[in-house]
Amino acid sequence: MAEADASAISLGRIGVFDSGYGGLTILRDLRKAMPQYDYLYLGDNARAPYGSRSFDVVYRYTLEAVRTLFSRGCPLVILACNTASAKALRSIQQNDLPGIDPARRVLGVIRPTVEILGNVSQGGHIGVLGTPGTVASHSYQLEIRKLFPTMSVTEQACPLLAAIVENSEADGDGADYFVKKYIDRLMERDPEVDTIVLACTHYPLLIDKIRRYAPEGMRILQQGSLVADSLGDYLRRHPEMDVRLSRGGTVEYLTSENPEKFDELASLFTDGEVKSRHCPLD
Ligand code: DGL
Repeated sequence: MAEADASAISLGRIGVFDSGYGGLTILRDLRKAMPQYDYLYLGDNARAPYGSRSFDVVYRYTLEAVRTLFSRGCPLVILACNTASAKALRSIQQNDLPGIDPARRVLGVIRPTVEILGNVSQGGHIGVLGTPGTVASHSYQLEIRKLFPTMSVTEQACPLLAAIVENSEADGDGADYFVKKYIDRLMERDPEVDTIVLACTHYPLLIDKIRRYAPEGMRILQQGSLVADSLGDYLRRHPEMDVRLSRGGTVEYLTSENPEKFDELASLFTDGEVKSRHCPLD
């Protein structure tokens, strides 16, 4: 009987969603830590950036993406996007999932990032760089206060950084100007910041410039490995989900934009060539 049940489980890939290219930084670390699974990446590049969009729009776009990944068989979807995690995750988990399929799961990137702060920050002064949407939601401040009530949190919106990355300008002078401007502003607001959280999955694409303009000795937290550790831990605690994941070590990329355009930039963030397929999302 047990054997019959096991063989009845239909296996699926881990879905990884972002508004555009940023989630590739998370996917890269997921694959490094757990190469055995199959992954399906979806970037909504045609509608990125999400960071300045309203709550309702980010929620609607994210739900469409989650439904798309579910319809392609993913039992588990990671929102590899802070803006979507901040604005849509809770509603999807609480209001939508029970009606769509209560056995599937959608996880975000904020909690795994916040959990580690106690081990990283010496002085307890945290700077959060994120999109206007993530900052306006105060999701980081709320989560950090819950776990570490004595930490001080300064959230700095960086409205142009995701757009700079989406437009292949991460190496340009404009990127220097804006990275410096946002870091300076953060440090003016709290000169004691000792740890900067890159609370947008696009920002690791700007890491060299962020390091250059951050004060000496600053801890800079990137999310990829934290999300990978957290997912590994989740799957150990949830074997009922783990057995539903297919293990072929493959990855497939979908984008709502032109695939050739996606492939060009995407290959900078993964090992090997990227050959994406178009996936309309509206
Ligand atoms: N990469 C996303 C994030 O982590 C969103 C960037 C955007 O689309 O504005 O917030």
